[in-house]
Amino acid sequence: MNNTVFVTGAAGFIGSAVARHLLAEHDDTVVNIDCLTYAGNRATIENELNHARYVFEQVDIRDRAALDRLFAQYQPRAIMHLAAESHVDRSIDGPRDFIDTNIIGTYNLLEAARQYYLGLDENDQSRFRFHHVSTDEVFGSLGDEGLFTEDSPYEPSSPYSASKAASDHLVRAWFETYGLPVVLSNCSNNYGPYQYPEKLLPVIISKVLRGEAIPVYGSGKNVRDWLYVDDHARALVCIMNTGRKGRSYNVGGNEERNNLEVVEAVCAILDELRPSADGKPHLELIKHVADRPGHDHRYAIDASRIRDELGWEPQESFDSGMRKTVEWYLDHQDWVSRVLEGSYDGGRLGTATGKTS
Ligand code: DAU
Repeated sequence: MNNTVFVTGAAGFIGSAVARHLLAEHDDTVVNIDCLTYAGNRATIENELNHARYVFEQVDIRDRAALDRLFAQYQPRAIMHLAAESHVDRSIDGPRDFIDTNIIGTYNLLEAARQYYLGLDENDQSRFRFHHVSTDEVFGSLGDEGLFTEDSPYEPSSPYSASKAASDHLVRAWFETYGLPVVLSNCSNNYGPYQYPEKLLPVIISKVLRGEAIPVYGSGKNVRDWLYVDDHARALVCIMNTGRKGRSYNVGGNEERNNLEVVEAVCAILDELRPSADGKPHLELIKHVADRPGHDHRYAIDASRIRDELGWEPQESFDSGMRKTVEWYLDHQDWVSRVLEGSYDGGRLGTATGKTS
C-alpha cells in the first residue's frame, strides 16, 4: 500500500481545494478521479497538473471496471469521495444524474473499495479509510432555533439531498455489514475560489459585474451557515486521517446569515472594489423572484464533535472569507469564462415547471 490518497471529484470546487491542501501540507500522492462534467474543469486544476505528487485520472465513478483498475494500479491508503452532482436547482430540473452519480456511483466505489480492502494484509487494512463527504442538507430544514448534530434525523427535501442521504446510508451499511472502515462528514454551505458560477455567491458577483438583476429566491430570509472552502478542506483531511471508524462529523463555519445578508455583504465589498458607473449601490440590483420549490428554511451546524474530538476549528471569518472570495473572482474572470463555455448561460434553474426526466 502506498502513501496515495484518491480524491474523487477533485476537478470540482471542494475536491480541488482538498487536493491543493494535501499537496501543500501533506506528503501523500493525490490521484484525482474525475470525469469532468460541466462542474469539473481542467481550468480548475491547471496548477496541480504538473505537480510531482499529483495524477489526474479522467474516470467516471459509474464505471466499475475503471475503478477496479485504479485501485489495483495505485494501491491507495485512503479514498476521499467528493464526486457528486451538487446543485439543488439542477436536481429539481433533472434528478436522473443525481441518482446515477450520487447513489449508483457511490455504490460502485464502495464495492470497488471493498474488493481492494479484502485483498490487503491486516496492517494495510487497519490503515485504510473510505471517507464519504456529504452535506447538512440530508437533515432537512430547521426552524428559527436549534442546530444539526450528527444524531439529527435524516429528512431530505430535494432530489439532490435525497440522493446524498441515500449515499450516506449506503456508506454506513458497508461499515456495519462488511466492516469497510468508513468515516463520514456533513458540511454546511461552502464558499471560496473555484466555485462553479451557478451557486449563490458567484451568481451575485457575476450579476453585479454585468449590471444585471440579482435573483433572490422568495423572501431571501432563508438561512445558511457559511464555511470557507479551505477550512473545509483542512477539516476533511483531518477527518480522513484521525476520525474514528464508522463515525460521522458535522463541519460548519459557525457563520449563519440569511440570503439577503449575504447579498448585502457581497454588494458592499463590490461597491468598494468595483463601484457602479452611476455611483448607485449594487444592492439596488436585487430582484425577488419565485421561490425554489421545497426551499429549506434554515441550515445550521453544531460542529462541536469535530472541535472536541479532532481539534478542528474554522480559521476564516465570514467577513474575511467573503472579501478574499470576491477579490479572487475579480482577479479570475478568465476562469469564470472558461468554465462557463457552452455549459451555463446564467439563467434561472430549478423552477419545477412540470417537465419530467
Ligand atoms: O448546505 C450545503 C449545500 O450548500 C451543499 O450540499 C450543496 O451542494 C450546495 O449547492 C449548497 O446548497 P444551497 O442550495 O444552499 O446553495 P445555493 O448556492 O444554490 O443557494 C444558497 C441559498 O441562496 C439558497 O437558500 C437558495 C438561494 N439562492 C440561490 C441562487 C443560486 C438565491 O436566492 N438566488 C440564486 O440565484
